[in-house]
Amino acid sequence: MTVLITLNDVEPAVRINAELEGEGIATAVVSPLDDMRGTLKREKPDVIVFSGDLGAPQTLSVVRDQLWAGVSSIGLTDVHDATQLERLRLGGLVELYVKPVDVDDVVSGVKRVLERRRLQQQTGLIGESEALREVLVKVEQMAPVTSTVLVEGESGTGKELVARALHRLSPRKNKPFIAVNLGALPETLLESELFGHEKGAFTGAAERRLGRLELADGGTLFLDEIGDVPMSTQVKLLRVLEDREVMRLGATQPIKVNVRVVAATNRPLREQVDEGSFRADLFYRLNVLSVYLPPLRARKTDIPFLVRQFIREFSAEHGRAFLGISAEAMEQLVDYPWPGNVRELKNLVDSMVVLAPGREIQPDDLPRQIREGGSARLLPVPLLAGRRNGMGVGVGAGGGG
Ligand SMILES: Nc1ncnc2c1ncn2[C@@H]1O[C@H](COP(=O)(O)OP(=O)(O)O)[C@@H](O)[C@H]1O
Ligand SMILES: [Mg+2]
Repeated sequence: MTVLITLNDVEPAVRINAELEGEGIATAVVSPLDDMRGTLKREKPDVIVFSGDLGAPQTLSVVRDQLWAGVSSIGLTDVHDATQLERLRLGGLVELYVKPVDVDDVVSGVKRVLERRRLQQQTGLIGESEALREVLVKVEQMAPVTSTVLVEGESGTGKELVARALHRLSPRKNKPFIAVNLGALPETLLESELFGHEKGAFTGAAERRLGRLELADGGTLFLDEIGDVPMSTQVKLLRVLEDREVMRLGATQPIKVNVRVVAATNRPLREQVDEGSFRADLFYRLNVLSVYLPPLRARKTDIPFLVRQFIREFSAEHGRAFLGISAEAMEQLVDYPWPGNVRELKNLVDSMVVLAPGREIQPDDLPRQIREGGSARLLPVPLLAGRRNGMGVGVGAGGGG
């Protein structure tokens, strides 16, 4: 990966460059902005670090084009005002540092961005909010081990994507990833799906059938909507997790299985334990490690990144040469509360890419409830969650979550 450094001030540019090179990171230093587009074409960087009037339309259009090409932009700015910083961030700058900058901060910021890019490419989990950054870190930490992970979050927040990422980053990645939606199966089928059955185990069991646990041997089993499992099956599931062996229905001998279990739920499992509809012992067995995905309305800074990614994906899929989305349309998407979370956003972008008459999504292309939706928020979330710390100034996820 290459980092392009193009700063007004020569001294920090040279020092940032020296430190990154010292870390073995490929860099290029060029004089600022004069022929930015030519430079970008030539250098094909993965990350650019630049300064200048970041809010100027020509700068923002360079940033936008870079985002479009999948390049992360880091800005050094004189701007202090929180609203203006937020605009820059929504415009696509992933890290912002207010001058005078500390060179070490910028260098560690660049390294974080490179690391995150690598993780996002590997996992498909897009986003620049503080919350999503934390999720990516957790996924990377949890992937190598066998401990059970409980993923919690509203429907459409990316729980299955997290489960797949845990598998993909694990030593089990070449073994099966088996998903089973426990909410979608009738109680009578559930146990035979999970544990399998022997021939003649029950009426209709004409052949031996392997359960999902056995099919996932060596790999990862994703138990979606774990909160829907009836009490009677919970006991059996607990036994499987504790003994690491499974008994097919109608069998007399258990079979050893080596499975990593990731479970997901869209309502807090602890509440179900308190209500008495979920066994506490199974809850603790599942909740060894946990990941929480906040609703999209609580991490609005992810929205522009998701929208651009989805436009790129769907315009390729539908063979439409799309330019993108206007700033006004993007602002309305950021304002909307997204009760259906990322799934709702993704489906909407899909339909807009097909239906929008122009080559750029405009406010008129948005459904009416979104154009009017900003004021009808379910949960009011402050868009400006300015924070200042040793690593520069950033605007993280909104409150909540
Ligand atoms: N952070 C993200 N980056 C990219 N795509 C996402 C992200 N979160 C969710 N998605 C997409 O949104 C859709 C819903 O995600 P999913 O994992 O099925 O949600 P859940 O299991 O929580 O209902 C999927 O198409 C998924 O790929
Ligand atoms: Mg799901």
